[in-house]
Amino acid sequence: MPHRDGRSRGADMSRRDGPPRMVRVLAPASVSNLGCGFDIFGLALERPGDEVVARAVEGSGIVSVSVSGDGGRVPTDPERNAAALAVQGVLDRTGSEAGVAIEVRKGIPLASGLGGSAASAVAGAVAADVLLGSGLDRTALLECAMIGERKGSGADHADNAAPSLAGGFVLVLPGLPPRMVMLPTPSDLVLAIVHPALEVETRRARTILGDTIPLKAGVEQWGNAAGLVAGLMRDDWDLIARCMRDAVAEPLRARLVPGFEGVRDRALAAGAVAAGLSGSGPTVFAICRTRDNAEAAALDMAGAFREEVGVESDIIVSSVNREGARILECS
Ligand code: HSE
Repeated sequence: MPHRDGRSRGADMSRRDGPPRMVRVLAPASVSNLGCGFDIFGLALERPGDEVVARAVEGSGIVSVSVSGDGGRVPTDPERNAAALAVQGVLDRTGSEAGVAIEVRKGIPLASGLGGSAASAVAGAVAADVLLGSGLDRTALLECAMIGERKGSGADHADNAAPSLAGGFVLVLPGLPPRMVMLPTPSDLVLAIVHPALEVETRRARTILGDTIPLKAGVEQWGNAAGLVAGLMRDDWDLIARCMRDAVAEPLRARLVPGFEGVRDRALAAGAVAAGLSGSGPTVFAICRTRDNAEAAALDMAGAFREEVGVESDIIVSSVNREGARILECS
């Protein structure tokens, strides 16, 4: 997460005269829900990430939007592009009439459950903030990013955008303004991430959930959410393993991800502490206690997708990214 004055570990702005003309920001992928925290828990990964380059140009408002790395699938219409909507959010919030050209470089696969549209929106919000020198605080930046995210999923949820912005494991309370609560994680926690060659649209994965949950599932879910927070705060792996489960969304969404249950079971059999759908899937995450175990679990999970469904997968082994969005260039 950049400092309030726009500086970050990633960019040396000390020799710049006047306001920047170009800012490049990287925002990381994230795993949301983490079992029991539908729409309220998320953590940032070390990679992949989306980049946004924002340039000061002639004109007023968003003058152009270009996208690469998406196979031509992400809209460049400013009203439908997550990064552009977040940039517009910053312009509106600050009353700026500056002209901005936006270039989005997608590194996160589309419809993967790794928070790609949230990362684009976060990178857009941070890049615009630094370019305009507006100095928005973290909550305001998150609200701007949520405008972009809302377009994709059709709902207000910041469980991807919050960790992508701030890094770490975040509890983000529902409602506006969003309230972020940073949670500790055991320092040895490593994630095995397996992204099969499948896609799930978040909007559809939310529609199938309906509006109500049975009381029994509610009791289980809020018990697990409370237990998981306690487990993280106490470094209690048994509690984390017991509570990182989803009684609400995952049972309904499993049918959208062929082979999911077998893949999750394979992760647990390989020694993972917990496993589940990353966001709305199809990516599956597993929480492990060593890098060796995460690598082994990831290979087993990818093997299960291959054997049960006949699809290949990309594998990521990652610690928790504690930094979040990062300014790569500012000139
Ligand atoms: N919490 C959101 C959901 C995340 O599960 O729909 C979407 O990636």
